[in-house]
Amino acid sequence: MKTWVAMYLLIWAVLLEMLIVFFPVLGYDANLDLHVLGGAVVVVLALIVYRQIRNTSCPDRIKRISRSTAQLAVLDTVIGFPLYLTDMSILGVPFKEVILFLHFVLAITIIAQASSSATAYDMWEEREFAPTPADQPRSPAHTS
Ligand code: HEM
Repeated sequence: MKTWVAMYLLIWAVLLEMLIVFFPVLGYDANLDLHVLGGAVVVVLALIVYRQIRNTSCPDRIKRISRSTAQLAVLDTVIGFPLYLTDMSILGVPFKEVILFLHFVLAITIIAQASSSATAYDMWEEREFAPTPADQPRSPAHTS
């Protein structure tokens, strides 16, 4: 899979993952099972992106962002399992709220980082960072 494809797919997969849990159109349980499956897809994509990015000569910042995105995806999945496996009614409400909040914040962070690194990588690959004639400073004759 091309790296830029995997990077943009990751963004859409995380978005879909959120929509699945926010809009349980198939019913709560079915949507949750789909959400768990989606979590695996997100983690695999994030790892593919990081492995592929690592082997390019793109700027280190993009590599670092991709690495932490993959780490956050793994962490979010780890946090998701107690949410999924435990009957929430036997937990204290604050405990549930804290884990859900963390799970949610990590999801937002993953999508934000995946978006920024995808754009940066795409620009690097397309050499859009190279100055174009329009970026040249105007000659003094043009300044009034
Ligand atoms: C890395 C991928 C994942 C993302 C981006 C993600 C995202 C989310 C989001 C945004 C919510 C809603 C949080 C809220 O209501 O405040 C949520 C809820 C939840 N997630 Fe995930 N999740 C991921 C992976 C997983 C995995 C792998 C599992 C289980 C193994 C899981 C289990 C749950 C559960 C049980 C809920 C609570 C559903 C409810 O009772 O309303 N998540 N997730």
